[in-house]
Amino acid sequence: MKLSPPTSPGESLANALARLRSLVDARLAVLVGVPGDGEPVKAAMHVAATSPGKRLRPALTLLVVEAFGGAAADHVDAACTVELVHASSLVLDDLPCMDDADERRGRPALHRQCGEAVAVLAAFALLARAQALLPGALAAARVAPAHRSAFASRLAGVVEAMCRGQALDLELPRTADLALLERVHSQKTGALFELAAELGAVVAGVSGDHLEALLSYARNLGLAFQVTDDLLDVTGDAAALGKPIGRDAALGRATFVSVFGVEGAASLRDELLDVASRALAPLGPRTALLRELTDHVRHRTA
Ligand code: IPE
Ligand code: IPE
Ligand code: MG
Ligand code: MG
Ligand code: MG
Repeated sequence: MKLSPPTSPGESLANALARLRSLVDARLAVLVGVPGDGEPVKAAMHVAATSPGKRLRPALTLLVVEAFGGAAADHVDAACTVELVHASSLVLDDLPCMDDADERRGRPALHRQCGEAVAVLAAFALLARAQALLPGALAAARVAPAHRSAFASRLAGVVEAMCRGQALDLELPRTADLALLERVHSQKTGALFELAAELGAVVAGVSGDHLEALLSYARNLGLAFQVTDDLLDVTGDAAALGKPIGRDAALGRATFVSVFGVEGAASLRDELLDVASRALAPLGPRTALLRELTDHVRHRTA
């Protein structure tokens, strides 16, 4: 496919996502290198980080960068930081002690390819890689040193929130109410979307009310993304998703769908996406693609 040049006026969201995805994919392939023989953890990291995911979180980082006049190519490492954390979380999520899923991104889950021990170690190593990548990404964007160290703590806080959210998700009672579901999924999934947008804002020099608006947008978008994930587990197509469907019901999990039904979850998704979209209003037309991303999440099938 021929891609338009960066940030051409009126660029479609589909083109922007494909363009940003190829930037991110090229850099991820370099970051996790091609492993030599006898390097099982490196080989597993390579598989986890380069397998064909949507790269939506790093795209969010770079869409924010571009909305505020930055060049995506200058901030790919910031975006890859987020994607490495995400890749790590998927490896852990699929383990037999968690969701016991056999397939991810149309391929055998990582522990199915290389065993549980190597998969767990690769997940740790991917997080370490993300942590190691961040300071250089912030320095290259001329973020002040004090903010750089604050942001390193922020990354650690998000990883911890994801772990805590994941643990709570594994134990959610079937009687969970909206407040509990929102709290758990904001930690498990929303926190990384928020970090993705925040990183884009920070490297593009956005602060104050504009930053707050972007965070509110990303928080609601991330939560809506998890609602759509829960919906697709019931209504989606395993081949299109590249992962098994029906896992949540098989595991007896409380999800937005098990608690509110398909229609109730769809209205919640729409409410969250409307809040996300409204949060962008004060930022004006430069956020048109971010606003379109809310519809992309609403209608996604993969
Ligand atoms: C799956 O995320 C995990 C959730 C938080 C729902 P994605 O659907 O973004 O997975 P990939 O990266 O495209 O495989
Ligand atoms: C995963 O949620 C959330 C993570 C942060 C890993 P799910 O367990 O619903 O994600 P899928 O459906 O396996 O991708
Ligand atoms: Mg899970
Ligand atoms: Mg899962
Ligand atoms: Mg799911």
